[in-house]
Formats: sequence, structure tokens, C-alpha cells
Amino acid sequence: MNRHDLKDTFFKKAKKEGYRARSIYKLKEIQEKFGIIKRGDRVLDLGCSPGSFLQYISEIIGENGLAIGIDILPTPSLNKKNIITIQGDIKNIKIETILTSHLVDSFDVITCDIAPNLTGIRETDDKNIGELFFAIKAIVENTLKKNGSFIVKSFFSEAFKPIQQDLKTLFKKVTIYKPQASRSSSSEVYLICLGKIRDPLPFPYQTGHSFPV
Ligand SMILES: C[S@@+](CC[C@H](N)C(=O)[O-])C[C@H]1O[C@@H](n2cnc3c(N)ncnc32)[C@H](O)[C@@H]1O
Repeated sequence: MNRHDLKDTFFKKAKKEGYRARSIYKLKEIQEKFGIIKRGDRVLDLGCSPGSFLQYISEIIGENGLAIGIDILPTPSLNKKNIITIQGDIKNIKIETILTSHLVDSFDVITCDIAPNLTGIRETDDKNIGELFFAIKAIVENTLKKNGSFIVKSFFSEAFKPIQQDLKTLFKKVTIYKPQASRSSSSEVYLICLGKIRDPLPFPYQTGHSFPV
């Protein structure tokens, strides 16, 4: 199947099944292979808009679970009791305030499908990816519980190896996974990070490792 057929197939499937984006099928494949998200879990979804990951997560966690989604863009309401969406840039959002106001002390799973705006200028793009990853990693270190899991979209670039290496210091196992719903021509992959080694760092939030750029 060529790139446009694949895009079209998953787009039509998402529309038919009532999901807001075809990204759902990438998370679904990951979930079916690794079984990461469980009933009753507390899940943080970074870069959540328009909300297809949240729709799917909501089905899995059930009424006793909670999913909090954050995006720089607004996320149209999903009308589910177990979903909260917040508009903000994850590079400067006060994550501790969000946790406190929703009575959450840590997350079981964090998903991140953020696509940084790319300029095509390699040095600029790698710097932006590095800064974004630094912010994402601080959130993971500070809010993901010990033994929790992290699913993050990444792209093969100069910045990829240091990111992968850095995550290996935080998790027992880091696997690179390319879902079939992701175009083979794209450099997009997901890093499946299982078994966080340490407890969340205490308030005030800080990062224990520096980003090696
Ligand atoms: C591919 S979309 C996510 C699709 C989503 N997983 C879904 O299933 O509907 C990537 C999202 O990352 C968001 N994003 C990019 N930079 C961000 C940032 N610094 N903080 C928060 N969200 C960001 C974009 O606004 C965009 O909505």
C-alpha cells in the first residue's frame, strides 16, 4: 500500500469508528502488542489534540481511571467523565498545579505524541527537539510512578540516539517500535519505555539528568 492509500485507509477507518484522528491506530497497535494501559490507570497524554489517544485511553481505563491531556492547542470537549483536557505548552506548564488540583500524585502511564514544528534546518530542528525532550523528560521523571511506562513518538535524526540513551537511564527496558499505521516512508517511530527505575522526584520538580547535546 502506498503512502497516500495508507493515510486514506486509516483516516476513513477513524471516521467510521468515531475517532478524531488516525493516530489512534498507532496507539492501539502498541497497546495490543505491549498491554501497557490497564483498567483504573491514571494516564497523562502530552500533545493530546484533537483527542483520539484520549478516546481510546478512556475506553481502556474505565470509569475508575483518569486521563489528563495537555496540548498547546485547544482540545474540543470529549464529554467523558474520566478525561480532563488542559491547554498549555508543555515547555512551561506548571504540572504540579495540575496534579494538585485534580488530586493526582503520580501517573501509571505517560503517552506523548507531540510533533514538533520542523523548519527543515537540521541544527535548528535538533535544538528544538532537544528542548522539547528536556521538558518531556522532566515531566516523566517528576510525575511517572516507579515501574510506570512511557510511550513517546520520536523521529530518526541527530537528536534520536542521545534521547534513546537518556531514556535507558530512566527505564529498565526501551524498545523502538514502528506501528504499521505509521507510514514506512516516514522516520517516525515510537519508543516504548517500560519499568521506570526511580520514584518520582519530590516537589519542587527538578530534573536529575541533563540532556546530552
Ligand atoms: C500528532 S498531534 C497529536 C494527536 C493525538 N495523539 C491524537 O490522537 O489526537 C501532535 C500534537 O502535539 C501538540 N504540540 C506540539 N508542541 C507542543 C507543546 N510544546 N506543548 C503541548 N502540545 C504540543 C500539537 O499542538 C498537536 O496537537
